[in-house]
This record gives sequence, structure tokens and C-alpha cells, in this order.
Amino acid sequence: MGTVVLGTGSCLPAKKLTNHDLEQMVDTSDEWISTRTGIRERRIAGKGEEAYVLAARASEKALDEAGLSADDIDIIIVATISSHMLMPSCACFVQAELGASRGFAFDVNAACSGFLYGFDIADRYVRTGKNCKVLLVGTETLSSRVDWQDRNTCILFGDGAGAVVLGFEPSVRGILGSRLQSDGRLWEPLCMYAPQSTNPDLHDANNPGSHVLMEGSEVFKYAVKAMANAVTDLLEQEKLTLADVKLVIPHQANIRILNNLVDRLNIADDAVFINVDKYGNTSAASIPIALDEASRAGRIERGDLVLFCSFGGGFTWGASLMRW
Ligand code: ACO
Repeated sequence: MGTVVLGTGSCLPAKKLTNHDLEQMVDTSDEWISTRTGIRERRIAGKGEEAYVLAARASEKALDEAGLSADDIDIIIVATISSHMLMPSCACFVQAELGASRGFAFDVNAACSGFLYGFDIADRYVRTGKNCKVLLVGTETLSSRVDWQDRNTCILFGDGAGAVVLGFEPSVRGILGSRLQSDGRLWEPLCMYAPQSTNPDLHDANNPGSHVLMEGSEVFKYAVKAMANAVTDLLEQEKLTLADVKLVIPHQANIRILNNLVDRLNIADDAVFINVDKYGNTSAASIPIALDEASRAGRIERGDLVLFCSFGGGFTWGASLMRW
């Protein structure tokens, strides 16, 4: 323990895309989308709202709440799979956008689990570095990475960013622990190819282009089981039960995954945070956006136990527990 959240922030693009808007774009209906996914609308980035820009705006709010400036930050970690460039990292662009001149910045690619992977990495830096301050951001513009003709995927995703500033406090508060896992053999049901190779020897005839590909039912099957197991294992590791937890903040994939998780773990309805109806699946950004909203809405108070869990492409999954 000792790694505490000093501030949170989020930034959502102004433009809303409703299910009714999508009815004009692909063969779908508001009824199908809302009953199968719980999503009613999502935000879509406009001009000048690249992933790093959304990330920087969310970070400014988190820094403001922490009472820190960008130059107080030692490490910037950005979880994303939809930066506008492959190199430099999105984190370097965030550093530049914030006008920060110290420390180092890097990206984490663990798809929808990226924020929790970053949380664990940050925790280790903060606990060993004591005075180390980490800015951790989840940011996505998956609207630039979906095939807008594919009704199986384009209805699911939204854009946005969430940020936390993490620092050390010698107290019982802070991150208690994490359980992270991946199984790279299971990459195929949820993936996104890189741009086609310019090296003819590495040319991939199967590369369909750089957008999200998904076998929804396979993802569904694994997601619920993997998240439930990660939560159970983590609580056992920390010798706690769900009755001790004030709020569960899961990755906002879709409502049926969340409802199945809630049923499987027997979580009380008021102990789980859900905002997938407003933003869709924002991948690595979903947990920090939800955390920012939960904190600002007074759903968590100092000393409460908060539990996070996620599942994403890789497959990657995990859970983290913190005393707020
Ligand atoms: N509108 C209308 N019909 C649709 C749409 C759509 N947008 N998309 C698919 N359909 C059709 C299919 O073509 C199919 O038609 P058919 O029977 O004529 O072939 C029918 O609806 C049923 O399709 P299924 O794939 O069986 O529908 P299912 O009930 O499994 O729901 C869904 C699909 C919502 C994608 C579900 O599988 C799911 O929730 N999977 C999890 C995926 C997910 O959340 N991914 C996010 C990324 S991973 C993560 O964040 C954890």
C-alpha cells in the first residue's frame, strides 16, 4: 500500500453518435443495439481531438485536482491502441501537449486491459521511488479504427480519455494489489492488424487492413469467466470478500457482459458502476473515465475499497483493488 490517487480527470469529445444515427449508417436498430449491448450513444472525436489531445485535457483536470503541474510528473504512462501515430508513442505526444519537460513517457498496449496493466506498473514505480509521481492515462479514438460498414463492431465503440495522478502516501490507503493475466494463443477473436508490411517477405495476405476485428460470442464467453476469476483470485489473495468492497468499476464492454459478471459474482446492483449507455466501449479509457465520474459523483469516499476488472484483446485481463 502507499500508492494513492491524487487526482482524476476525464475528457469526452462533444460529438454524440446515437443508435438512431447508426440506423442511417448500417443495417441496425436502436432496439437491437440497446438490448444486446446497453449502449444508447457514444462520443466520436472531431477535428483536433486525437487520442493524445483528449488524454492531455483529461490529464490537466487530474493534475489540477492533485494540485500539481505537468513538470511535477516523473513518468507518463498512456494505455491506448488507437494513437494517431505508431511512433512516437502517444505518451510522448501527451508530454508535449502538456508542456512537460521532465521524466519519461511510454505507452502500454494491453487493449481494454491497458489501464489496469498501467496501474500495476505505476504502483511499482511509486512504491519503490517514494516521491515519484506518475500520470496514468487511458485514451482511445477507436472511431478511427473501426470499419464503419461492419455493424458487428462499429456500434460498440466510442472515444474518450481518463487520467489519474498517482503518488506515495505512507498510510493504509492506496493500491492493495493486482492480478493480471494474458493468453496470447487467444489473439484471434479480437484483434487489429498493423498497416500492411512494405517488406515483401513479410507481406501478409490475410491482413484485411487496420481496423477492429471481433468474434463477439467468443469474446463474450471468455470475458465474463476471466474477469470473474481475476476478481475472485484477487480477493482471496488480499483476504477480503466482495462484501468489503464499496464499488466495483468494471471495464465498460457492454451491459450483457456486465450483467453476467454481476450475477456470477453476486454483486449488489448499487455496488457496480455503469456508464456504458452514454459512452459505449472506450477500451483502455473506460475504467479511468468511470473512476473519474464515480469519484466526482461521491460514489466513493476516503477509505472505501474500490475494485476494478477488465478484459480485452490479447486476450488480456485482470483486476485491481485499492483503498480510496
Ligand atoms: N444490428 C443488427 N443486427 C446485428 C448487428 C447490429 N448491429 N450486429 C450483428 N447483428 C446480427 C448478426 O448478423 C446475426 O444475424 P444472423 O443471425 O442473421 O447471422 C444476429 O444479429 C445475431 O448475432 P450474434 O453475433 O449472435 O449476436 P449476439 O447476441 O452474440 O450479440 C454482441 C453480439 C453484442 C457483439 C455479443 O456477442 C457481445 O456482446 N460480445 C462481446 C463483444 C464485446 O463486447 N466486444 C467489445 C470488445 S471486447 C471487450 O471490451 C471486452
